[in-house]
Amino acid sequence: MGKSFDIGLERLTGIGVPGDGQPQEGGIKPPLHDAGRPFSDQGKQEADAVGSTFYLETFGCQMNDHDSEKVAGVLLARGYRQVDGPEAAKVILYNTCSIREKAAQKVFSRLGELRPAASDLRSVASEEREPYAETPIAKFAQDKQRTRSSEEKRNPSAQAGVPVPQDPKHPSLRKIVNAGGGKIIGVLGCVAQQEGEEIFERAPWVSLVCGSASYRKLPQLIAELEAGNRRVTGLDTDTDETFETEITRRDNPWRAYLTIIEGCDKACSYCVVPFTRGPERSRGSASILEEVRQLADAGYSEVQLLGQTVNSYADPSARNMRFSELLAAVAEVSGIRRVRFTTSHPRDFGKDIVEAIEAHPTICDHVHLPVQSGSTAVLRAMARTYSREEYLEKIALMKAARRPISITTDMIVGFPGETEKDFEETLTLLDEVQYDSVFAFKYSPRPNTPSLKMADAIPEEEKGRRLGILMDRQREIQRVRNEKLVGETFEVLVDGKSRRENQWSGHTSSNRVMNFTSPEQELLGDYVQVKVVSAMPNSLVGEMVGR
Ligand code: 5AD
Ligand code: SF4
Repeated sequence: MGKSFDIGLERLTGIGVPGDGQPQEGGIKPPLHDAGRPFSDQGKQEADAVGSTFYLETFGCQMNDHDSEKVAGVLLARGYRQVDGPEAAKVILYNTCSIREKAAQKVFSRLGELRPAASDLRSVASEEREPYAETPIAKFAQDKQRTRSSEEKRNPSAQAGVPVPQDPKHPSLRKIVNAGGGKIIGVLGCVAQQEGEEIFERAPWVSLVCGSASYRKLPQLIAELEAGNRRVTGLDTDTDETFETEITRRDNPWRAYLTIIEGCDKACSYCVVPFTRGPERSRGSASILEEVRQLADAGYSEVQLLGQTVNSYADPSARNMRFSELLAAVAEVSGIRRVRFTTSHPRDFGKDIVEAIEAHPTICDHVHLPVQSGSTAVLRAMARTYSREEYLEKIALMKAARRPISITTDMIVGFPGETEKDFEETLTLLDEVQYDSVFAFKYSPRPNTPSLKMADAIPEEEKGRRLGILMDRQREIQRVRNEKLVGETFEVLVDGKSRRENQWSGHTSSNRVMNFTSPEQELLGDYVQVKVVSAMPNSLVGEMVGR
């Protein structure tokens, strides 16, 4: 799996932090926060009565993070309470990512941790009076039986479809079962969509499988599980609806995420997203603007508009707003001080977006514009719909802007057939564009994608070598670029406080991480002026000089 390269700026679209982990914002995670909108009293009473709790772990991109906020909202509205670990939860949910193989594998290792121990399985399986569907172990036994008979139908010589887990090193579920039993284990997101019902075969203790394109069905699926259904799925992708909820449980008290377009209609030859997230669906501009107004009223000062291809936004309403018009309208909502958007696709990136940034200081001076490769031949094989030269024209639009715009990108090395010369062109693109951050990945072959069948696979070792060279080159570019900022003053939204006294962190409008000193007692959530005193490739160091 590809090492990735995060040089300081927060990850924007995917999973580009080292080890495919979650992006860290200034090193300190803000407290949980529910946007100040309590769930219904009736729901609360139900929660108190049944003690319903859920644990939700999220892998992958910001779209997934935000989907999880909405999923949590759906559960809160039904009276569930969120808990910190699977042991204390009645419902355990994993919102998964499958963009690269390693990310997809993670969920199966998590599910493995929840696998029932064989001894528990046997003892519960022999408890005939125990109603099925009431304990996960019973469910596992029943599912095993079911899976075995279907497997036997396909392959009569099979001893058992799913081997009974014999590994005694699985204390987690035993602990969970002893702690109360009756768990619902669900897989959401891209792996759910990609693997579908296969997940039940691989992990029969799972009872909910739902891809993101079917999240609007989640309340209904959860109701079915509560009613005693053993297995439910939401796997349709042929939808023209977006997933909107009455309540979103927001994790960040200052920055609110808002999905404006779901799915993807591009067909990059390496990418699973069009399969896992379905076709593009845009949300109506009036409902987006109404939500932004509510967010501002609730105290959020920064909104981030999200979409796999956010600038392909196509307003389905009669207003027919272009993306740049929507951006400007969001920027004008009173109380909003920062508007971010991610991820932009180069094909739909035009001068109008740069003009919107120029005209509205509240639109952050940062554009994430994934290029993937500097070679037109590789771009063609990737079906990216632009050449190196056409991409550079978009960059030129930003370089000509009246205020500096920070540009970041994603790159893939070792795409099938990528020659040494192609790779050299990727390196010269780094020099030419002068990105402020690059998220670089080793090509990972993914199921169903056209590139899976392409000839001339690049050996893993060679992919690793190219990734290392790219990272070194870009680190040096960032070191030089950041050093030029020493002495300048930036506005910073403070979103972290260090354990060390007087040490704070935050983000500039260009999304640079700024660690700085200030003797003030309380700064979290404030906008302050910080002067850069030194620079590193990944972040700036400064001191507060005013408000
Ligand atoms: N292999 C490696 N990287 C990939 N990405 C998407 N699909 C793959 C793949 N199969 C990267 C792209 C994209 C980012 C979110 O993940 O660079 O922009
Ligand atoms: Fe994947 Fe390409 Fe769509 Fe981005 S634009 S999500 S890389 S198919």
